[in-house]
Amino acid sequence: MTDSDISEMFAAARAAMDRAYAPYSNFHVGACVRSESGALYSGPNVENAAYPQGWCAECSAIAAMVAAGEREISSVLVVGAPSDGAGGYVDDPDALCTPCGGCRQKIREFGTSETPVLIAGPEGLRRRFTLGELLPFDFGPDNLK
Ligand code: THU
Repeated sequence: MTDSDISEMFAAARAAMDRAYAPYSNFHVGACVRSESGALYSGPNVENAAYPQGWCAECSAIAAMVAAGEREISSVLVVGAPSDGAGGYVDDPDALCTPCGGCRQKIREFGTSETPVLIAGPEGLRRRFTLGELLPFDFGPDNLK
C-alpha cells in the first residue's frame, strides 16, 4: 500500500466519521474498506435508541462493498474518537480505535489473516495491524468446507 492509498482511505473514513449517528455514546467512528478491484467503500457507526440495535462503522462499509457486488477486502482503515459536541473530537493521541470482536469476524469473512487493518486518529494514521494479529486462530469460510 502506498502513502497515497492510505491518504485516500483515511479521507473517506474521516468523512464518514463526521457523519456518524452516535447520539448515545458520542463516539464517532468511520471505516473504509478497499476491495480487490481497488474501489473504496466507507461508512459510519449508526446507533439506535434500542442500544443493541446500533451497528459499527466497519459493518456499514462492508455492507456498501457487498451492495456494490464485491466480495474481497484488500485493506481496512478505521478512525474513531469521542465527539466534543461542537463538530470536533476530544482525542487521546494514544487511543486506538481497533475493530470490535464482531467486526474482526466480519472483516475475516471477506479478507484473510494478511489483510492490513490500519487504525487512525482524527489527524491521521496511528498504527498498522494485520487481521491475523487482531484475530488469531480465526474461524473463517474455509472451516466449513
Ligand atoms: N464502534 C465502531 O463503529 N467500530 C469500532 O471499531 C468500535 C466501536 C462504535 C459502536 C458504538 O456506536 C460506538 O462505537 C461506541 O462503542
